[in-house]
Amino acid sequence: MKNVMLVFGTRPEAIKMCPLVRELRGREGMRTVVCVTGQHRRMLDSVLGAFGVVSDYDLNIMKERQSLFDITTGVLNGMCEVLRRERPDAVLVHGDTSSAFAAALACFYEGSPVGHVEAGLRTHNVWRPYPEEFNRLAVGLVARYHFAPTREAAQNLLGEGKDPSSVYVTGNTAIDALRFTVKREYAHEELTWARGSRLILITAHRRENLGEPMRGMLRAIRRVTEEYPDVKAIYPVHMNPTVREIANGELSGCERIHLTEPLDVLDFHNFLARSHLVLTDSGGIQEEAPALGKPVLVMRRETERPEGVRAGTLRLVGTEEESIYENFKQLLEDREAYEAMAKATNPYGDGFACRRIADILQAE
Ligand code: UD1
Ligand code: UDP
Repeated sequence: MKNVMLVFGTRPEAIKMCPLVRELRGREGMRTVVCVTGQHRRMLDSVLGAFGVVSDYDLNIMKERQSLFDITTGVLNGMCEVLRRERPDAVLVHGDTSSAFAAALACFYEGSPVGHVEAGLRTHNVWRPYPEEFNRLAVGLVARYHFAPTREAAQNLLGEGKDPSSVYVTGNTAIDALRFTVKREYAHEELTWARGSRLILITAHRRENLGEPMRGMLRAIRRVTEEYPDVKAIYPVHMNPTVREIANGELSGCERIHLTEPLDVLDFHNFLARSHLVLTDSGGIQEEAPALGKPVLVMRRETERPEGVRAGTLRLVGTEEESIYENFKQLLEDREAYEAMAKATNPYGDGFACRRIADILQAE
């Protein structure tokens, strides 16, 4: 019996790891153990509920306004006991969060083999996004299996000298998640409110954007939305209290922008599928939107998802207020530019990444 453990703690990791938990739990000869760090409490639990995943261990580390020290030491200490007890044959971590980094470090200390899901994404600037670029580099240093979502991500790893026999191109499990969540028949009161308008979906949360960059982004969105009576925006605000202060400060009182609680993943994916376009600094949304044919203005200075930019779905617009204002307006005015972005092909996989990862682990 092979003992495979999955460790994750934030909303995006859970969205991309729960389909894999479901796949592995259906396999013969595998014992699948789920350890959640609880780095996000409510947003994590909401995803676990949506996918029907129950954890075996919960480190429950989240604190209000937690620091990177809090997350890293909380996970590292918690994982020590879990690893000693379970002695897993492989530990799967995802992407670039501090939960993933600290769990991989714990595995390194305990000699447990790490499988890195969504491996090989790079901006090649260790300070941006912060601390994610460092986290993914560090996980990559100790991983035994690198599950790269695209050829380009695999190429990054090979360029860093990883053993080619440890690098697999699987597609991104985010696309597997969409197969589970997006429904043909779907209704929600916020969508009823937006009916007949062009629906803009907004998210913003990156640590390096907190403060003036995020204020500028939101001011640009407000200015454009106020100029176009046929536009309505929904902004499910991240639970980070600093993000909430900024969002309320810049956008409250704007009639055609609804600030909401974070949406459950089933709702968010169905909103995305019915939106006109997206403005975001999120990572995962840059993968989901191309699969649903939705143009994205990426409010960041660089992206680790160049495939989506090349495919034409993503446009990198920076964090400056004027650039976001101009690009947002242009996409509302220029039908041809909009159609070109909406028609681009999805470079992130066919929705069967989990099956490939499970096959690889089972064959070992
Ligand atoms: C984390 C990840 C980031 C990822 C993001 C996805 C790190 C360092 N950062 O950033 O890579 O893109 O998640 O959203 O790993 N909070 C709650 N309830 C929740 C979730 C968050 O109250 O369910 C509040 C808490 O006050 C918490 C704060 O949000 O302290 C920030 O959460 P944290 O995980 O530290 O940072 P994120 O910005 O969410
Ligand atoms: N998401 C969600 N509800 C929301 C906003 C986002 O379920 O209200 C999902 C979204 O579909 C994507 C993931 O959360 O799968 C992205 O999370 P986030 O932007 O917090 O993190 P990142 O991807 O930037 O690490």
